[in-house]
Amino acid sequence: MPHIAAKNIQLPAFPIKRGEFEYLWKAQAIYAKEQLVAVRYKELAFLLEIKPKKDHYIIKADKVTRPAPTFIVKEALSNFCEAARCQRLYDNLSQIKPSHTQKAQGFLKGIDYFINDFPKDKEVCIEVGFGSGRHLLYQAKNNPHILFIGIEVHKPSIEQLLGQIALQKLDNILVVDYDARLFMEFVPSNIVGTIFVHFPIPWDKKPHRRVISKPFVQEAKRVLKPGSILELRTDSINYFEYALEVFLDEKKAQLEVTKNIAPPVSSKYEDRWVRLGKDIYDIRLKNLENSKELELEGDFSFQSGVKKERLIELMGQTKVYEDFFIHFQKLYSIDEKRNLVELSFGSFDRPEHKYLLIDVNTIRYFPKQPIPSRANKKAHIKIEELFNV
Ligand SMILES: C[S@@+](CC[C@H](N)C(=O)[O-])C[C@H]1O[C@@H](n2cnc3c(N)ncnc32)[C@H](O)[C@@H]1O
Repeated sequence: MPHIAAKNIQLPAFPIKRGEFEYLWKAQAIYAKEQLVAVRYKELAFLLEIKPKKDHYIIKADKVTRPAPTFIVKEALSNFCEAARCQRLYDNLSQIKPSHTQKAQGFLKGIDYFINDFPKDKEVCIEVGFGSGRHLLYQAKNNPHILFIGIEVHKPSIEQLLGQIALQKLDNILVVDYDARLFMEFVPSNIVGTIFVHFPIPWDKKPHRRVISKPFVQEAKRVLKPGSILELRTDSINYFEYALEVFLDEKKAQLEVTKNIAPPVSSKYEDRWVRLGKDIYDIRLKNLENSKELELEGDFSFQSGVKKERLIELMGQTKVYEDFFIHFQKLYSIDEKRNLVELSFGSFDRPEHKYLLIDVNTIRYFPKQPIPSRANKKAHIKIEELFNV
């Protein structure tokens, strides 16, 4: 990550403009030594962190708000150091080169992309946990008229797939680094052709981490077009039996179960299991109904302010509820009227990390609102309640 080690930082009077970068304010941590500097660049807002070391400072982008691509951070750091007349000791800015998968970075989308403008101009198919990507690449190559969305949480697999997309010059795959169970909440109803879940991790000891669950299957049915299929392929008899039970619980669906049927392309996992003589089970659940439209509203506004004493009281606390949590991490002071709170909240599997900018009686999320997931909406209501205790 880009950073600069510097001495003798002379913070300018805020706000200050340098080229296309505007440095808006500085926030000082109340029980720690870090400082944050708010930066605006075009429509983006983010924070730089100034972290004191023994006899110098490290300046880098704050991890919660860090923007992409990296050149924005590099420029923001360089401009800031000039404005603050830092004495640079060393930096790594020239070492940060575009990665070999850069050409395909346009195919890697953030969750906001899907929430704001879910692609609908082609038929959509989804692969959950694509791993090496062999199946996804095969499908995309053989079905150029379909848009494939690959969902993964394992970063090396994502990098590998992006490299292959560039190498094979494919233009019908979008990749998202997100938990598939939560991603489904943002897919419009009745638009998906097929959902592939091939060789999901069985999680025999932690079943709550399984991809297949009642809520997942219900969301899958909602997003599938009538007549379209959720396809599970597994080598685990336990997982097969568990999934069959979950699928059978659905009111209106058609199920097809097969065993040891060779697919058009086999994955690395499959090759290994077949070599070991294991059985492979498939369940295909056909959705038979039309679902009601997706509503993606989320009100993340605050009706009243919060007293500083209450913020101090909440700092360091974690509140755990049935299907979400809130953790108040750090409090910063910007000036006499304004404070900044670092917090995380929402689902246990994909927590949202944000700041709250508190200006006397107005509170807003910084740099932008949380994504409108169910867990985030519940957490927001609770945060407001906790502020008003
Ligand atoms: C056992 S591998 C199978 C990979 C591939 N489907 C295959 O057949 O070779 C399971 C993959 O699912 C991914 N995964 C697990 N849980 C996930 C989740 N909740 N959302 C998205 N991907 C997930 C893992 O990172 C892993 O790459």
